[in-house]
Amino acid sequence: MPVTEIKKDIYWVGVVDWNIHDFHGYSRSPQGTTYNAYLVMDEKITLFDSVPAKYQMDLYHQIRSIIPLEKIDYIVCNHIEPDHSGAMPFLMEKIQPEKVFCSKLGHRMLLDHFHQPDWPYHPVQTGDSISLGKRTVQFMEARMLHWPDSMFSYIPEDKLLISNDAFGQNIASSERFDDEVDLAMLMKESSHYYHNIILPYSQRVTAVLDDVAKMGIEIDMIAPDHGIIWRSNVPLILQAYREYAEQRPNKKAVIVYDTMWHSTEKMAKAIAEGIMEEGVSAKIMALKQYHHSDVMGELADATGIVCGSPTHNNGIMPLMADFLTYMKGLRPVGRVGAAFASFGWSGESLNVLTDWLKSAKVEVVEPGVKGKNVPDHAKLAECKELGRQVARAIKAKVAEAEA
Ligand code: FEO
Repeated sequence: MPVTEIKKDIYWVGVVDWNIHDFHGYSRSPQGTTYNAYLVMDEKITLFDSVPAKYQMDLYHQIRSIIPLEKIDYIVCNHIEPDHSGAMPFLMEKIQPEKVFCSKLGHRMLLDHFHQPDWPYHPVQTGDSISLGKRTVQFMEARMLHWPDSMFSYIPEDKLLISNDAFGQNIASSERFDDEVDLAMLMKESSHYYHNIILPYSQRVTAVLDDVAKMGIEIDMIAPDHGIIWRSNVPLILQAYREYAEQRPNKKAVIVYDTMWHSTEKMAKAIAEGIMEEGVSAKIMALKQYHHSDVMGELADATGIVCGSPTHNNGIMPLMADFLTYMKGLRPVGRVGAAFASFGWSGESLNVLTDWLKSAKVEVVEPGVKGKNVPDHAKLAECKELGRQVARAIKAKVAEAEA
């Protein structure tokens, strides 16, 4: 992928990972991703961020198409996760930079990752700035967006925010900018990324956005470390992040289930009908077909989460345990839900699901529905009624938020 001049004398020199569908082992990335790095040509030539170790030669060729690597003076490491720092040992050897800038926690993490105490670290904190010549770089810590070390770099002369993972998306594309791709697809991928990576730190997102607003900095381009660069829709993505973080109630429910012989599936459909009868949107997702990260992507704008599993070995199905573990870790707030379960003889799964939902801070409509073997008409009617109850609880949440 050719390097791209994103601002005068500022180049995207990143790498497109066209075929990665498994992002960091926990989220799907069906459209691939990119690892963005940026080269600023000024009196002090500066490289912002890098790429995974396996792509270090791709980064080398990208930079080499502009300058020899040894001409680089500074490296800024906004985030130490290996998809942005893996190439550091290689770069340090080739470049031998005068200074490496990172946050204080980034300094510790670079030591922990690469065990190189002699690199020329210059830890910085919010409020610190450096001159590159014609340009300044202002640093802003963005702790827990999404690691403790995370940091933004802002270049006021170019109104450019280099934001590491924040505002990123997993999109492999020959296009670099938001006005060159389908906006609906871009916003969907941004939401999917947020709700699988940044969601637990939503309070921090609001705080960082408030800090940025208070500082009164002008931003006309946001260059994240994954995916597409924002230049025509900067206010849109900033507002979207506020809304993602806010998690306002919405009249929508996700019904997620696993099934062995389709009884739980029949119950899921009946519950969805009850939800829809009350004027609330419903999305049914079978865990054999949908990855847990896709369910979280769908739950982004859903206030209801209804979980179903047959009893299996006195517990729940393995894919449901996987999903509930994943969802609980992402700490969505303000959700209401319910459990439903089929069983053959012992029937523990309803209680197991209910306890899981409660432990994930979901307000549970109890007692849920438990059906022995194949549900008959009466049992499906019970499921429909549970759907109506969940929908009413969702509508109450929405009304409360709008009051
Ligand atoms: Fe893209 Fe947190 O690394």
